[in-house]
Amino acid sequence: MSEREQSPVELRQRISELETVLEVGREITSTLDVDRIMDLVLDACMGAVNAEAGTLWILEDAHLLPLAVRGPKADRLKGLKLKQGEGLAGQVCENREPVFVEDVTRDERWAKRFDDATGFITRSMLVVPLFTDDISVGSLQMINKLDSSLFNESDLRISTDLAAVSAKIIVNSRIHTQQRLLLDTTVRMLASVLDARDPYTRGHSERVSKHALLIAGELGLSPEEQGVIERAALLHDIGKIAIPEEVLLDANPLDAKAWEQINKHPSLGANILFQLEPKTLIRQLWAGTLYHHERYDGNGYPVGLAGEDIPLVARIIAVANAFDNLVSQQRFGPSKGIEEALEEIELCAGTYFDPKVVEVFVNSTRARRTGVAR
Ligand SMILES: [Fe+2]
Repeated sequence: MSEREQSPVELRQRISELETVLEVGREITSTLDVDRIMDLVLDACMGAVNAEAGTLWILEDAHLLPLAVRGPKADRLKGLKLKQGEGLAGQVCENREPVFVEDVTRDERWAKRFDDATGFITRSMLVVPLFTDDISVGSLQMINKLDSSLFNESDLRISTDLAAVSAKIIVNSRIHTQQRLLLDTTVRMLASVLDARDPYTRGHSERVSKHALLIAGELGLSPEEQGVIERAALLHDIGKIAIPEEVLLDANPLDAKAWEQINKHPSLGANILFQLEPKTLIRQLWAGTLYHHERYDGNGYPVGLAGEDIPLVARIIAVANAFDNLVSQQRFGPSKGIEEALEEIELCAGTYFDPKVVEVFVNSTRARRTGVAR
Protein backbone atom coordinates (compact mmCIF):
# COMPACT_ATOMS: atom_id res chain seq x y z
CA MET A 1 0.00 0.00 0.00
CA SER A 2 1.43 3.37 -0.98
CA GLU A 3 1.66 6.20 1.52
CA ARG A 4 -1.25 8.05 -0.11
CA GLU A 5 -3.70 5.13 0.00
CA GLN A 6 -6.06 4.82 2.93
CA SER A 7 -6.69 1.56 4.78
CA PRO A 8 -10.26 0.14 4.90
CA VAL A 9 -10.45 1.24 8.55
CA GLU A 10 -9.45 4.81 7.66
CA LEU A 11 -11.92 4.86 4.77
CA ARG A 12 -14.75 3.67 7.01
CA GLN A 13 -13.85 6.37 9.49
CA ARG A 14 -13.82 9.06 6.79
CA ILE A 15 -17.20 7.89 5.48
CA SER A 16 -18.60 8.05 9.02
CA GLU A 17 -17.20 11.60 9.40
CA LEU A 18 -18.79 12.70 6.14
CA GLU A 19 -22.12 11.14 7.11
CA THR A 20 -22.09 13.23 10.31
CA VAL A 21 -21.30 16.39 8.33
CA LEU A 22 -24.07 15.64 5.80
CA GLU A 23 -26.60 14.99 8.54
CA VAL A 24 -25.79 18.25 10.32
CA GLY A 25 -25.71 20.09 6.97
CA ARG A 26 -29.22 18.85 6.16
CA GLU A 27 -30.51 20.00 9.53
CA ILE A 28 -28.92 23.45 9.47
CA THR A 29 -29.91 24.23 5.89
CA SER A 30 -33.56 23.85 6.94
CA THR A 31 -33.33 26.93 9.18
CA LEU A 32 -32.30 30.55 8.74
CA ASP A 33 -32.11 31.11 12.48
CA VAL A 34 -28.41 31.76 13.11
CA ASP A 35 -28.66 31.04 16.86
CA ARG A 36 -30.15 27.63 16.14
CA ILE A 37 -27.52 26.90 13.47
CA MET A 38 -24.73 27.68 15.92
CA ASP A 39 -26.22 25.45 18.64
CA LEU A 40 -26.67 22.57 16.18
CA VAL A 41 -23.12 22.79 14.85
CA LEU A 42 -21.56 23.01 18.29
CA ASP A 43 -23.55 20.06 19.65
CA ALA A 44 -22.82 17.94 16.57
CA CYS A 45 -19.11 18.70 16.66
CA MET A 46 -18.74 18.01 20.38
CA GLY A 47 -20.60 14.71 19.93
CA ALA A 48 -18.44 13.70 16.97
CA VAL A 49 -15.09 14.46 18.61
CA ASN A 50 -16.17 13.47 22.14
CA ALA A 51 -15.33 16.85 23.69
CA GLU A 52 -16.10 17.90 27.26
CA ALA A 53 -16.80 21.50 26.34
CA GLY A 54 -16.98 23.69 23.27
CA THR A 55 -17.44 27.26 22.14
CA LEU A 56 -18.49 28.73 18.83
CA TRP A 57 -16.94 32.19 18.57
CA ILE A 58 -18.43 34.67 16.12
CA LEU A 59 -16.61 37.77 14.88
CA GLU A 60 -18.68 40.93 15.36
CA ASP A 61 -17.45 44.54 15.56
CA ALA A 62 -13.76 43.59 15.99
CA HIS A 63 -14.56 41.19 18.85
CA LEU A 64 -15.11 37.46 19.09
CA LEU A 65 -18.28 36.65 20.98
CA PRO A 66 -18.98 33.19 22.45
CA LEU A 67 -22.44 32.93 20.89
CA ALA A 68 -22.82 29.19 21.48
CA VAL A 69 -21.23 27.64 24.54
CA ARG A 70 -21.44 24.14 26.03
CA GLY A 71 -19.74 22.53 29.00
CA PRO A 72 -19.73 22.37 32.79
CA LYS A 73 -19.12 26.13 33.31
CA ALA A 74 -20.67 27.34 30.06
CA ASP A 75 -23.02 29.90 31.61
CA ARG A 76 -20.13 31.86 33.12
CA LEU A 77 -18.46 32.25 29.70
CA LYS A 78 -21.44 33.74 27.88
CA GLY A 79 -20.88 37.38 28.89
CA LEU A 80 -17.14 37.39 28.08
CA LYS A 81 -15.52 38.29 24.76
CA LEU A 82 -12.13 38.32 23.02
CA LYS A 83 -10.59 41.16 21.08
CA GLN A 84 -10.03 40.39 17.40
CA GLY A 85 -6.87 38.24 17.20
CA GLU A 86 -6.77 37.62 20.97
CA GLY A 87 -6.24 34.13 22.37
CA LEU A 88 -6.23 30.92 20.37
CA ALA A 89 -9.79 31.43 19.15
CA GLY A 90 -8.95 34.94 17.95
CA GLN A 91 -5.74 33.89 16.22
CA VAL A 92 -7.36 30.94 14.47
CA CYS A 93 -10.11 33.23 13.21
CA GLU A 94 -7.49 35.71 11.98
CA ASN A 95 -5.02 33.23 10.43
CA ARG A 96 -7.66 30.76 9.20
CA GLU A 97 -5.42 27.87 10.23
CA PRO A 98 -6.55 25.21 12.73
CA VAL A 99 -4.60 24.71 15.95
CA PHE A 100 -4.11 21.64 18.17
CA VAL A 101 -2.93 22.26 21.71
CA GLU A 102 -1.97 19.23 23.80
CA ASP A 103 -1.42 21.24 26.97
CA VAL A 104 -2.81 24.75 27.04
CA THR A 105 -0.78 25.77 30.09
CA ARG A 106 2.32 25.59 27.89
CA ASP A 107 0.83 27.69 25.10
CA GLU A 108 1.24 31.43 25.51
CA ARG A 109 -1.57 32.15 23.02
CA TRP A 110 -4.13 30.66 25.40
CA ALA A 111 -6.40 33.24 27.08
CA LYS A 112 -6.15 31.83 30.62
CA ARG A 113 -8.42 34.51 32.01
CA PHE A 114 -11.44 32.52 30.86
CA ASP A 115 -10.56 29.56 33.08
CA ASP A 116 -9.87 32.03 35.88
CA ALA A 117 -13.29 33.58 35.35
CA THR A 118 -15.25 30.34 34.98
CA GLY A 119 -13.37 27.94 37.28
CA PHE A 120 -13.16 25.44 34.40
CA ILE A 121 -9.90 23.55 33.81
CA THR A 122 -8.84 23.45 30.17
CA ARG A 123 -6.29 20.78 29.30
CA SER A 124 -6.25 20.20 25.56
CA MET A 125 -7.87 22.05 22.74
CA LEU A 126 -8.69 21.91 19.04
CA VAL A 127 -9.65 25.18 17.35
CA VAL A 128 -10.71 25.45 13.71
CA PRO A 129 -11.57 28.60 11.74
CA LEU A 130 -15.02 29.49 10.39
CA PHE A 131 -14.62 31.29 7.09
CA THR A 132 -16.06 31.30 3.60
CA ASP A 133 -15.22 33.14 0.38
CA ASP A 134 -12.54 35.19 2.12
CA ILE A 135 -14.91 36.25 4.91
CA SER A 136 -13.80 35.38 8.46
CA VAL A 137 -16.85 34.38 10.49
CA GLY A 138 -15.29 33.10 13.74
CA SER A 139 -13.81 29.93 15.18
CA LEU A 140 -14.99 26.63 16.60
CA GLN A 141 -13.21 25.51 19.76
CA MET A 142 -13.33 21.96 21.15
CA ILE A 143 -12.00 21.50 24.69
CA ASN A 144 -10.76 18.36 26.53
CA LYS A 145 -11.57 14.91 25.14
CA LEU A 146 -13.92 13.15 27.55
CA ASP A 147 -11.68 10.06 27.60
CA SER A 148 -8.63 12.27 28.40
CA SER A 149 -6.91 11.34 25.12
CA LEU A 150 -5.67 14.03 22.70
CA PHE A 151 -7.57 15.44 19.76
CA ASN A 152 -6.53 13.65 16.56
CA GLU A 153 -6.55 14.06 12.77
CA SER A 154 -10.07 12.64 12.46
CA ASP A 155 -11.33 15.22 15.00
CA LEU A 156 -9.63 17.93 12.96
CA ARG A 157 -11.25 16.80 9.68
CA ILE A 158 -14.76 16.61 11.06
CA SER A 159 -14.47 19.95 12.93
CA THR A 160 -13.09 21.64 9.81
CA ASP A 161 -15.90 20.24 7.63
CA LEU A 162 -18.59 21.31 10.08
CA ALA A 163 -17.01 24.76 10.46
CA ALA A 164 -16.96 25.21 6.67
CA VAL A 165 -20.63 24.25 6.26
CA SER A 166 -21.78 26.44 9.13
CA ALA A 167 -19.71 29.46 8.03
CA LYS A 168 -21.36 29.34 4.60
CA ILE A 169 -24.83 29.09 6.09
CA ILE A 170 -24.24 31.84 8.67
CA VAL A 171 -23.04 34.20 5.92
CA ASN A 172 -26.02 33.30 3.70
CA SER A 173 -28.38 33.85 6.58
CA ARG A 174 -26.90 37.30 7.23
CA ILE A 175 -27.33 38.16 3.54
CA HIS A 176 -30.94 37.00 3.76
CA THR A 177 -31.53 39.25 6.79
CA GLN A 178 -29.96 42.22 4.98
CA GLN A 179 -32.10 41.56 1.90
CA ARG A 180 -35.20 41.47 4.07
CA LEU A 181 -34.28 44.80 5.70
CA LEU A 182 -33.71 46.33 2.29
CA LEU A 183 -37.02 44.96 1.06
CA ASP A 184 -38.80 46.34 4.14
CA THR A 185 -37.42 49.78 3.40
CA THR A 186 -38.49 49.52 -0.24
CA VAL A 187 -41.98 48.40 0.78
CA ARG A 188 -42.44 51.36 3.15
CA MET A 189 -41.08 53.78 0.58
CA LEU A 190 -43.45 52.52 -2.14
CA ALA A 191 -46.41 52.68 0.26
CA SER A 192 -45.58 56.27 1.20
CA VAL A 193 -45.29 57.24 -2.49
CA LEU A 194 -48.80 55.90 -3.08
CA ASP A 195 -50.23 57.68 -0.04
CA ALA A 196 -48.60 60.95 -1.11
CA ARG A 197 -50.08 60.71 -4.58
CA ASP A 198 -53.64 59.78 -3.64
CA PRO A 199 -55.17 61.85 -0.82
CA TYR A 200 -58.33 59.71 -0.86
CA THR A 201 -56.40 56.71 0.32
CA ARG A 202 -53.90 58.50 2.58
CA GLY A 203 -53.27 56.28 5.60
CA HIS A 204 -55.34 53.51 3.98
CA SER A 205 -52.31 51.25 3.35
CA GLU A 206 -51.20 51.52 6.99
CA ARG A 207 -54.69 50.77 8.33
CA VAL A 208 -55.24 47.81 5.99
CA SER A 209 -51.85 46.51 7.04
CA LYS A 210 -52.83 46.78 10.71
CA HIS A 211 -56.11 44.88 10.15
CA ALA A 212 -54.36 42.24 8.02
CA LEU A 213 -51.76 41.69 10.75
CA LEU A 214 -54.56 41.24 13.29
CA ILE A 215 -56.19 38.57 11.08
CA ALA A 216 -52.88 36.79 10.45
CA GLY A 217 -52.27 36.61 14.21
CA GLU A 218 -55.80 35.33 14.88
CA LEU A 219 -55.32 32.63 12.21
CA GLY A 220 -52.25 31.42 14.14
CA LEU A 221 -49.72 32.22 11.42
CA SER A 222 -46.05 32.26 12.43
CA PRO A 223 -44.37 35.61 13.26
CA GLU A 224 -42.47 35.34 9.95
CA GLU A 225 -45.70 34.80 7.98
CA GLN A 226 -47.43 37.62 9.88
CA GLY A 227 -44.60 39.97 8.84
CA VAL A 228 -45.06 38.98 5.19
CA ILE A 229 -48.83 39.57 5.36
CA GLU A 230 -48.23 42.97 6.99
CA ARG A 231 -45.84 44.04 4.21
CA ALA A 232 -48.09 42.65 1.46
CA ALA A 233 -51.07 44.58 2.84
CA LEU A 234 -49.04 47.81 2.89
CA LEU A 235 -48.49 47.43 -0.85
CA HIS A 236 -51.82 45.98 -2.00
CA ASP A 237 -52.87 49.10 -3.96
CA ILE A 238 -49.39 50.01 -5.21
CA GLY A 239 -50.62 49.60 -8.80
CA LYS A 240 -52.57 52.86 -8.36
CA ILE A 241 -49.32 54.78 -8.80
CA ALA A 242 -49.53 53.73 -12.47
CA ILE A 243 -53.13 55.03 -12.90
CA PRO A 244 -53.35 58.46 -14.61
CA GLU A 245 -53.89 61.30 -12.12
CA GLU A 246 -57.01 62.60 -13.88
CA VAL A 247 -58.67 59.22 -13.21
CA LEU A 248 -57.23 58.61 -9.75
CA LEU A 249 -58.02 62.10 -8.43
CA ASP A 250 -61.30 62.74 -10.26
CA ALA A 251 -63.87 63.88 -7.67
CA ASN A 252 -66.80 63.03 -9.93
CA PRO A 253 -68.37 59.57 -10.19
CA LEU A 254 -66.24 57.46 -12.50
CA ASP A 255 -67.53 56.34 -15.88
CA ALA A 256 -67.10 52.81 -17.24
CA LYS A 257 -63.84 53.69 -19.00
CA ALA A 258 -62.34 55.14 -15.82
CA TRP A 259 -63.38 52.06 -13.82
CA GLU A 260 -61.75 49.89 -16.43
CA GLN A 261 -58.51 51.75 -15.80
CA ILE A 262 -58.84 51.64 -12.01
CA ASN A 263 -59.51 47.90 -12.14
CA LYS A 264 -56.14 47.36 -13.74
CA HIS A 265 -54.38 48.35 -10.50
CA PRO A 266 -53.90 44.77 -9.20
CA SER A 267 -52.11 43.71 -12.41
CA LEU A 268 -50.16 46.97 -12.64
CA GLY A 269 -49.07 46.59 -9.02
CA ALA A 270 -48.00 42.98 -9.53
CA ASN A 271 -45.89 44.07 -12.51
CA ILE A 272 -44.16 46.69 -10.36
CA LEU A 273 -43.46 44.24 -7.52
CA PHE A 274 -42.24 41.55 -9.87
CA GLN A 275 -39.23 43.73 -10.61
CA LEU A 276 -38.06 43.55 -6.97
CA GLU A 277 -35.54 40.98 -5.74
CA PRO A 278 -35.15 38.43 -4.29
CA LYS A 279 -38.14 36.66 -5.86
CA THR A 280 -38.48 34.26 -2.91
CA LEU A 281 -39.22 37.20 -0.62
CA ILE A 282 -41.54 39.11 -2.94
CA ARG A 283 -43.73 36.15 -4.01
CA GLN A 284 -46.35 36.76 -1.30
CA LEU A 285 -46.28 40.55 -1.79
CA TRP A 286 -46.92 39.97 -5.46
CA ALA A 287 -49.79 37.52 -4.76
CA GLY A 288 -51.39 39.90 -2.24
CA THR A 289 -51.35 42.75 -4.74
CA LEU A 290 -52.48 40.76 -7.78
CA TYR A 291 -55.35 38.85 -6.12
CA HIS A 292 -56.77 41.20 -3.46
CA HIS A 293 -59.88 41.91 -5.59
CA GLU A 294 -60.59 38.25 -6.28
CA ARG A 295 -63.86 37.02 -4.73
CA TYR A 296 -64.30 33.80 -2.78
CA ASP A 297 -67.15 32.79 -5.15
CA GLY A 298 -64.94 33.30 -8.21
CA ASN A 299 -66.61 36.50 -9.47
CA GLY A 300 -63.72 38.84 -8.72
CA TYR A 301 -60.90 40.21 -10.85
CA PRO A 302 -58.40 40.17 -12.51
CA VAL A 303 -58.28 36.35 -12.84
CA GLY A 304 -61.52 34.98 -11.34
CA LEU A 305 -59.85 32.60 -8.86
CA ALA A 306 -62.20 31.05 -6.28
CA GLY A 307 -62.05 29.67 -2.72
CA GLU A 308 -58.67 28.53 -1.50
CA ASP A 309 -57.17 28.88 -4.96
CA ILE A 310 -56.90 32.53 -3.95
CA PRO A 311 -53.68 32.79 -1.92
CA LEU A 312 -54.38 33.30 1.80
CA VAL A 313 -52.49 36.60 1.82
CA ALA A 314 -54.98 37.99 -0.72
CA ARG A 315 -58.04 36.59 1.11
CA ILE A 316 -56.83 38.35 4.26
CA ILE A 317 -56.13 41.65 2.50
CA ALA A 318 -59.57 41.54 0.82
CA VAL A 319 -61.32 41.60 4.22
CA ALA A 320 -58.95 44.16 5.75
CA ASN A 321 -59.30 46.41 2.69
CA ALA A 322 -63.10 46.21 2.60
CA PHE A 323 -63.38 47.04 6.30
CA ASP A 324 -61.18 50.11 5.99
CA ASN A 325 -63.07 51.27 2.90
CA LEU A 326 -66.36 50.98 4.80
CA VAL A 327 -65.31 52.79 7.98
CA SER A 328 -63.04 55.44 6.44
CA GLN A 329 -64.14 58.52 4.61
CA GLN A 330 -65.45 57.31 1.29
CA ARG A 331 -64.72 58.88 -2.01
CA PHE A 332 -68.37 58.90 -3.09
CA GLY A 333 -70.34 58.30 0.09
CA PRO A 334 -70.47 58.55 3.89
CA SER A 335 -68.47 56.16 6.04
CA LYS A 336 -70.15 53.50 8.16
CA GLY A 337 -69.83 52.82 11.85
CA ILE A 338 -67.65 49.92 12.93
CA GLU A 339 -70.50 47.57 13.86
CA GLU A 340 -72.38 48.37 10.66
CA ALA A 341 -69.23 47.66 8.63
CA LEU A 342 -68.64 44.36 10.44
CA GLU A 343 -72.22 43.28 9.72
CA GLU A 344 -71.81 44.14 6.04
CA ILE A 345 -68.63 42.09 5.88
CA GLU A 346 -70.37 39.17 7.60
CA LEU A 347 -73.11 39.31 4.95
CA CYS A 348 -70.44 38.92 2.27
CA ALA A 349 -68.78 35.84 3.83
CA GLY A 350 -68.71 33.04 1.27
CA THR A 351 -69.45 35.37 -1.67
CA TYR A 352 -66.84 38.12 -1.52
CA PHE A 353 -64.77 36.81 1.36
CA ASP A 354 -63.31 33.65 2.90
CA PRO A 355 -65.77 32.82 5.75
CA LYS A 356 -62.95 31.76 8.09
CA VAL A 357 -61.08 35.05 7.58
CA VAL A 358 -64.31 37.00 8.14
CA GLU A 359 -65.06 35.05 11.31
CA VAL A 360 -61.68 35.70 12.97
CA PHE A 361 -61.65 39.36 11.95
CA VAL A 362 -65.20 40.13 13.03
CA ASN A 363 -64.89 38.22 16.32
CA SER A 364 -61.54 39.75 17.28
CA THR A 365 -62.60 43.28 16.32
CA ARG A 366 -65.82 43.00 18.35
CA ALA A 367 -63.92 41.50 21.29
CA ARG A 368 -61.44 44.36 21.23
CA ARG A 369 -64.24 46.93 21.08
CA THR A 370 -66.02 45.47 24.06
CA GLY A 371 -62.73 45.06 25.93
CA VAL A 372 -63.07 41.29 26.24
CA ALA A 373 -59.73 39.84 27.28
CA ARG A 374 -58.45 37.43 24.67
FE1 LIG B 1 -57.36 47.62 -4.45
